[in-house]
Amino acid sequence: MPWDPHCYARFQVEREAPFCDLLGLLRTVAGMRVIDLGCGPGVLTARLFEALPEARLTGLDSSPEMLEKARALERPGLNFRLGRVEELAGSYDLIFSHAALQWVDDHERLFPRLFRHLAPGGQLAVQMPSNHDHPSHLAILETASEEPFLSALQGWSRCSPVLPLQRYAELLHACGAVEQVVLQKVYPHLLPDSDAMVEWVRGTALVPYLERLEPVLQEAFLDRCRLKLGVLFQERPVFYGFSRILLRGCKRLGPPCA
Ligand SMILES: C[S@@+](CC[C@H](N)C(=O)[O-])C[C@H]1O[C@@H](n2cnc3c(N)ncnc32)[C@H](O)[C@@H]1O
Repeated sequence: MPWDPHCYARFQVEREAPFCDLLGLLRTVAGMRVIDLGCGPGVLTARLFEALPEARLTGLDSSPEMLEKARALERPGLNFRLGRVEELAGSYDLIFSHAALQWVDDHERLFPRLFRHLAPGGQLAVQMPSNHDHPSHLAILETASEEPFLSALQGWSRCSPVLPLQRYAELLHACGAVEQVVLQKVYPHLLPDSDAMVEWVRGTALVPYLERLEPVLQEAFLDRCRLKLGVLFQERPVFYGFSRILLRGCKRLGPPCA
């Protein structure tokens, strides 16, 4: 089961609030060369493009399904390209990533590597979920550790590569970043019931589990997650507090002062 743009779009409104917050952290200059890492269906990439005067923006994503959707939004100055964050090349005035770098491993190396792709004066701006200790995510790990899923997945499960908040500030500082902002925010969402929480993670965190399972086990996996969350969250509507990290760091225009 690959990335499904329709499934992902179900909570588009809720996903826009952190995007607007990240946009608010940017220093906007005309004519920036920009890359959006893990652009997905491109809706927010197009919004970013519209907020940056005369930008040349490329959206990069490793999912052909997501890119097919995104390419319908192409226009002069905005294009989309199939590719992996790990293979990023080139130099940019803004490296932007919204809700995607949680899918890329080894942030200790990743962030310094991304920073090296900034032109002098360039900005790195990232939002990523830090919700991995919420029951909606723990239910996935727990289910994957139970039979028949444990055997079907051959013991595979995915731990979040997202580091403690403070570590991103340290990494940016070690890169020589200036004007850094590193913060965590809980986005409050009201969902109709706990099943909606499963629908939410079905479009994101559940993707790599479901794609490793036969259709009949996919449904059983979802049912098991629904059962666990149904016990924990019996109220309707249900409050879903979703924690996210937002950060911005800039590369100096010249060498640091002696
Ligand atoms: C949750 S979606 C976010 C999409 C979009 N940025 C948004 O906020 O609506 C995450 C995207 O990251 C992409 N992705 C995951 N790992 C990737 C990688 N290593 N390189 C490039 N894209 C990746 C997925 O294909 C998916 O489209």
